[in-house]
Amino acid sequence: MDVYEAVMSRRAVRGFTDEPVPREALERVLSAAARSPSGGNLQPWRTYVVTGDPLAELKKRTAERVAAEDRGDEREYPMYPPELSGPYRERRAEAAERRYAALGIPRDDPRARHRAVAANWDCFGAPAALFCYLDRRMGPAQWADAGMYLQTVMVLLRAEGLHSCPQMAWSVYRRTVAEVVSPPEGLILFCGMSIGHEDVGVPYARTERAPLAETVTFLDD
Ligand SMILES: Cc1cc2nc3c(=O)[nH]c(=O)nc-3n(C[C@H](O)[C@H](O)[C@H](O)COP(=O)(O)O)c2cc1C
Repeated sequence: MDVYEAVMSRRAVRGFTDEPVPREALERVLSAAARSPSGGNLQPWRTYVVTGDPLAELKKRTAERVAAEDRGDEREYPMYPPELSGPYRERRAEAAERRYAALGIPRDDPRARHRAVAANWDCFGAPAALFCYLDRRMGPAQWADAGMYLQTVMVLLRAEGLHSCPQMAWSVYRRTVAEVVSPPEGLILFCGMSIGHEDVGVPYARTERAPLAETVTFLDD
């Protein structure tokens, strides 16, 4: 698959079949993604791949917390700035509106919206997930390195015919993730990622992007 095709066909897929993900494909992807750049070649990411019984156990334990209306563990980093101003607030709201509209969920149905959010903790049905941790002493530059690494993983998954959804939502139930993956002391969970084959029966709306001139400036003549 051409790189442009891989980048353009990557999207946050939120419906997967139960078709297993071959371990060899994940090893190929994660070996190649390890070539991602990082400042000083620190390679600050620490990844746990979870499938099979451990993933079933994670989904079960998390579902129990969701069913108990457990609001989650204290957050270790803000997912968004507390006061999200324009244009970011509008972009976020539009993405959410388009998503709920595609799912046929009206604005005044918070329970249906909650169910859609809760699907995060079932990995949207995916049979594989990864969890990306960093050493908690790392700073913004290393978090950016982890972002490049994760994007490389997602693009390479496309080359394997697989799809993904990156998920900060897992940080909400990070203690349950830690019970299953047992990370050493000193790591902080950045995000999870659901991985699998897309369930093409799940409706979605492709997200928009700002016009190039809003985010890129060319200085030439
Ligand atoms: C770091 C990161 C965390 C994300 N966390 C979640 C999440 O918890 N749940 C979710 O459904 N989507 C999550 N997303 C997906 C974004 O909503 C999605 O990438 C964005 O709306 C653009 O849509 P696209 O990826 O389909 O192009 C996350 C994306 C990133 C990069």
